[in-house]
Formats: sequence, structure tokens, C-alpha cells
Amino acid sequence: MATVTVTLPHHTYDVIVEPTALDRLGQITANLAPHARCGLIADDYVFSIYGPRAVSTLEHAGYHVVRHLQPTGETNKNLDTVRDACDTMLDAKLERRSPIVALGGGVCGDTAGFVASSYLRGVPFVQCPTTLLAMVDASVGGKVGVNVPQGKNLIGAFYQPVVVVIDPLVLQTLSPREQKCGLAECVKHGVIRDAALFDWIDENLAKIQALDPDTMTELVARNVAIKARVVEEDEKESGVRAHLNFGHTFAHAIEATAGYGQIEHGEAVSLGMVAATRLAVDAGRVPADVLERLVALLDRIGLPTKADLVDTPALMDAMLLDKKVKDDRVRLVLPDALGAVSVVNDTPTAAIADAWGAVRA
Ligand SMILES: NC(=O)c1ccc[n+]([C@@H]2O[C@H](COP(=O)([O-])OP(=O)(O)OC[C@H]3O[C@@H](n4cnc5c(N)ncnc54)[C@H](O)[C@@H]3O)[C@@H](O)[C@H]2O)c1
Repeated sequence: MATVTVTLPHHTYDVIVEPTALDRLGQITANLAPHARCGLIADDYVFSIYGPRAVSTLEHAGYHVVRHLQPTGETNKNLDTVRDACDTMLDAKLERRSPIVALGGGVCGDTAGFVASSYLRGVPFVQCPTTLLAMVDASVGGKVGVNVPQGKNLIGAFYQPVVVVIDPLVLQTLSPREQKCGLAECVKHGVIRDAALFDWIDENLAKIQALDPDTMTELVARNVAIKARVVEEDEKESGVRAHLNFGHTFAHAIEATAGYGQIEHGEAVSLGMVAATRLAVDAGRVPADVLERLVALLDRIGLPTKADLVDTPALMDAMLLDKKVKDDRVRLVLPDALGAVSVVNDTPTAAIADAWGAVRA
């Protein structure tokens, strides 16, 4: 078992990582937000596997559980889903002190968190993430929100949970493709902050791929700790939190031009990290072996390091549409070494175009 504490100026909360923690969800929630009722917003597929256990532990802790099942998938991370969930909570007369628990991946956590942030102007929010990506990234840090036709995550809030309850054993039912996508974010954490974590993932990959419970607990806890430290330094993303976007400016351009849903986010991040590191090597910021080690690890994980992409001008246009662009300059997060990155605003367009070549099949 591991507990990581996130300490922010106005709020502190624990991230509990423990095999079988799902069965303690009720007790943990009741210790922090006791009430006669709670809301449970769950991804419907995840609910079909883990819903009965979640409901049972919450009922055992004294809650009448008001459940709202959200259809699975990114396309349902929208304002209609928020309205449906609010209707369910209003009809059941959930009150200001009734907690809302999210059970699912990042899509469900982001949506449920936005509901929790706005329902009655905010109720206690509990995250119970069930994908590796949601465990190591989306559930920690308080960014919640939904997509609108104009773009991803454009309507939302910073709203921190009262606790995050992570049971790494639930990863046993997650698809191998989703596991790999979560691992892309873990590799990212190693590159931006922690070379020792990068080495540890490399050395322990077989146990990670076998979902060994102790190894997964350590993997999740180490990654949560990195995310927590970054968020503590910069809760509202005015500085170092941008480091978490390593690989993401390239990734968003790949996702946008491939058509959302064609390529998984983690796969695009894998390609984006390779392109950004290639750029850093070409600019003389890091030695070539950083790129070689990154590509070797991503290949071993089974993440893409090359792909069929649309032509470079289309990718460059997509990059300029990204919300991380400021004053028409693409802001890139580039490695300075394995374990350290900087935000760079003045990369010549020609260098970015060359970097795309590194990931083109
Ligand atoms: N808030 C943040 O800081 C933050 C950070 C990163 C990503 N995100 C968001 O997270 C979302 C992606 O999250 P995701 O990758 O978790 O995707 P997801 O929530 O869509 O889950 C992926 C799939 O896995 C299934 N699933 C989830 N847990 C399972 C389990 N234990 N067993 C079997 N199947 C399971 C789901 O039903 C779903 O079909 C995006 O919307 C992204 O914008 C948010």
C-alpha cells in the first residue's frame, strides 16, 4: 500500500494506492464526506464489472447510492452527459454534503468531476480511477471538464477531489492497448522529472506487463507522486504544469489530423515524445542516446514510434490550432536531459517540420 499526499494552498488530499482498495471505497469516502446519500457516476462498461462491489462498499458505509451510468467513450464526455447526471442527482435530492464518486477512466472522472464542481456550486468529489492513464494522470490534479464541438476540454474547472482511491487490481480487466497508453504517460513522467523512474520501468517491464500487484502499486504510486509534485508547484497551469505536455503538442496534431478515435491518445503521445526528443537532439539540447533509449523503451512496450501520417504542412497547421499556441508561436516542451525538460517558444518552423520526419513511417 502507498499513500501520496497532494498539498495545495487551500486543500490537501490523499491518493491511496492499494490492491483491493475498491472494497474500502465506502469506508474511505464516509470518513471524509459522511452523509445519508452519495452519487456514483460510473462508466457503464466499468460498472458492469466493478459496479456491484462499489455499490456494496458504499452501502455498507451507510450511503444510499444514487447511480448514474455514463455511456462509455470520449464522445460522451460532453455537456449532455453533464446535464443527464445533474438531472439524476437533482431528482434524487442529493445535497451539498452528499459526495459524488467517479468510477471509471479519465472520461468518466473528467465528466463526474465537472458535475461535482458545479452541482449545488460544488459537492465533495471522490475519484476511483480504473484505467492506468486515469490513475497516474487524470485523477490527480483537479482538472475536470468536458468537450464541446469547438474543441476538447474547453468547458471545465479546477476542482480537487477529497480523496483518490486506486485499486491497481482493476487493471487486470483493462485491454492491453489501454495499458500501453497509460504506460506512455508513465514514460513521459520519467523523461520530464525522474530518470530513475525511466530506468525502473525499463528494468521492471516484464513484471509491469504481467500486472504484478506489488509492481503495479509501485508504478502507480511513483507516477502519482510526480504528478502531485508538479501540481503542487503550479496548480492552475501558469508555469511548470506545462511540462506535463511533453509530446502532447505533436500528439494533438496527430490526433486532429488522423480524426479523433483513429489513434489512441497514448499512442499519439508516444509518437509526440519521439518527435520532440528528435527535435531536442537536432538542436543540440540532449545527446542522441536519450532518443535511442526512449525509442527502445517505447518499442519494447509496444507503443508506436513511427506511423503513417498526413503530410507535414497539414500537421504544422494542426499544431498552430492547438490551444498551447501563444502569439502564433508553438510552445514545445523539450528535454534538457533524461529527467528534465523546459518550455521552448522559439523553435524555428523548419526544425519542427524536420522533427515530424522522425516519426513518419
Ligand atoms: N483531467 C486531467 O488532468 C486529464 C489528464 C489526462 C487525460 N485526461 C482525459 O482522460 C480521458 C482519457 O481517459 P482514459 O484513457 O482513462 O479513457 P476512458 O475513460 O475512455 O477509458 C478507456 C476505456 O477503458 C474502459 N475501462 C476503464 N477501466 C477499465 C477497467 N478497469 N477494466 C476494463 N475496462 C476499463 C472504459 O470503459 C473505456 O472504454 C480523455 O478524455 C482525456 O482528456 C484528463
